Amino acid sequence: MRVVLLGPPGVGKGTQATRLALRFRVPHISTGEMLRDAIRRRTAAGAAAEAEVAAGRLVPDELVGQIVGERLGREDCRVGFFLDGYPRNLAQAATLERLLAGAGMQVDRAVELTAGEEMLVRRLSGRRTCKACGTVFHVDLNRPRRDGVCDACGAPLVQRADDHEAVIRERLQVYREVTAPLAAYFRDRGLLRTVAAEGSVDGVTEAITMLLGETGC
Ligand code: AP5
Repeated sequence: MRVVLLGPPGVGKGTQATRLALRFRVPHISTGEMLRDAIRRRTAAGAAAEAEVAAGRLVPDELVGQIVGERLGREDCRVGFFLDGYPRNLAQAATLERLLAGAGMQVDRAVELTAGEEMLVRRLSGRRTCKACGTVFHVDLNRPRRDGVCDACGAPLVQRADDHEAVIRERLQVYREVTAPLAAYFRDRGLLRTVAAEGSVDGVTEAITMLLGETGC
């Protein structure tokens, strides 16, 4: 099961990939999370990515390609993966195809999640993320049991640096211009399925699970 999750910022890629990875017992690979981790750890890759992530722009393809290539090369990816946030443009899609072909693999399915822009802005501006384990909540749509505290590990919840209105608008613009055309790339290869993601978290998980089962993925 090698699945790419596509969709705009805030549509629920990370939320769904976390649940599906547990359900299907394959890794959840998030380029956004790997970049934020590199920034937190002050690595060279983190330093190179920091300004772009803070501004809501894409970091250079070569840098993300290296990070993804290293991750996909690990043993746990042999059984499959949910890839969240990669590829993000046509050049990255070509890199992914090449990386997987080198290991005798290919993408089995691309699942595109969709929601209206007002919903995306609402979800992103209310998102809170656990500082320690990265679990994602929302101040009113997906509340933790105790305000400001992670249900999973008890650490404080924080707002992501790029979840402020001006940066959210920039990320949505980058998505429309550069990433949305990827749907056609996967459609042309017969791999694309689309799921409306405005419903409940559970409902969207079930819709994707059913689709992956139906398509034999
Ligand atoms: P990244 O971390 O990938 O951010 P993104 O694509 O903008 O996506 P998000 O994480 O914001 O949203 P999501 O769809 O995962 O939504 P979530 O599940 O959290 O990338 C960040 C930055 O890193 C980029 O801007 C770029 O700079 C860089 N980067 C990353 N990858 C790159 C690449 N390949 N190339 C170049 N640069 C790259 O949900 C959002 C909120 O909604 C949460 O609060 C959640 O609780 C809530 N929610 C989710 N689903 C539901 C639901 N069904 N009902 C109610 N609430 C819901």
